[in-house]
Amino acid sequence: MNIMNNAYLDQENKFPFSHQYQRCVMASKRISWRIEEDVIRGREFDGQEKFLPDSLSLVEQLSFLSRADQVFFSQVQGRTYAHIFGLVERFINAKVLELGQQHVLGDQVALEALVRFSDEEIKHQALFRRIEMMTAAVMPEGYSFAIDPNEIAQAVLSKSTWAVLGLTCHIELFTQQHYRQSIALCDGLSPLYKDVFLFHWREESQHAILDEIEWREEDKKLSVQQRDVAVDDLIALVAAVDQILQQQAETDAAYFVSASLANYNEQQKSAITVTFLRAYRWQYIVSGLKHTRFIHILAELVSQTQMDRINQALAPLMKSVI
Ligand SMILES: [Fe+2]
Ligand SMILES: [Fe+2]
Repeated sequence: MNIMNNAYLDQENKFPFSHQYQRCVMASKRISWRIEEDVIRGREFDGQEKFLPDSLSLVEQLSFLSRADQVFFSQVQGRTYAHIFGLVERFINAKVLELGQQHVLGDQVALEALVRFSDEEIKHQALFRRIEMMTAAVMPEGYSFAIDPNEIAQAVLSKSTWAVLGLTCHIELFTQQHYRQSIALCDGLSPLYKDVFLFHWREESQHAILDEIEWREEDKKLSVQQRDVAVDDLIALVAAVDQILQQQAETDAAYFVSASLANYNEQQKSAITVTFLRAYRWQYIVSGLKHTRFIHILAELVSQTQMDRINQALAPLMKSVI
């Protein structure tokens, strides 16, 4: 350990963030896990168990659902959670690989931290593909997630790096919040899905620290005008996420209604669709925008005028969830 620390310390004189990168590398090595041996452990999902807690699925807003449909409602959203993470991790990893290139002939601890970050995101995508297959085995036919992660990644990566890092930091902070404030505290969830969230959260904790370092470093490179464009890019990226959520909420609501044994009237169908969208906006946008660390970093990077522009643009989204 001392030899490793000395090697890291040797770099600290030259590279100001080496200590933070080093702590991420150490934590990453300490908590590293394998999909089958540590997470799945030969288990299967139980069709009678919820995949997401009520505080994330917002199922309590649909008082007319039977107990069986409350479970099914959380399972549809849990399955979509796996897809959404597989999707965002595609562009996150592409950006991390690009950022790693900046350190190839420089801070080797930073390079190691980003290589591990990338390796973990590839593993997470494999985990979520595995979870999709396993959830499909206990759910009725007809579920669909038709959004191509590569197409989304290309669109996201066409925006400025500052905006992509802002969106990524937001995602990796809300991932932790979902686990710590909702999933970890919820009794009665699928123990297997709870472990998926637990193991994912452990590695995401380092990612959020690295996102912040990279976002702040990228920010230093921008002129006032470039940052102004980047702020518009961030607003556009959040709007693009919302487009995906609107599409998937419609798809999931239609699947839920057709696969349920209940015969819902038009008013109830409409409430189901509205609640799917509200839950997805809460999970993937609003819980992150309200994260105190995210607000703190963003406020340090942008001017008050830019912050007002962001708040004004996102106000309808924020209000739609309340
Ligand atoms: Fe991840
Ligand atoms: Fe991550």
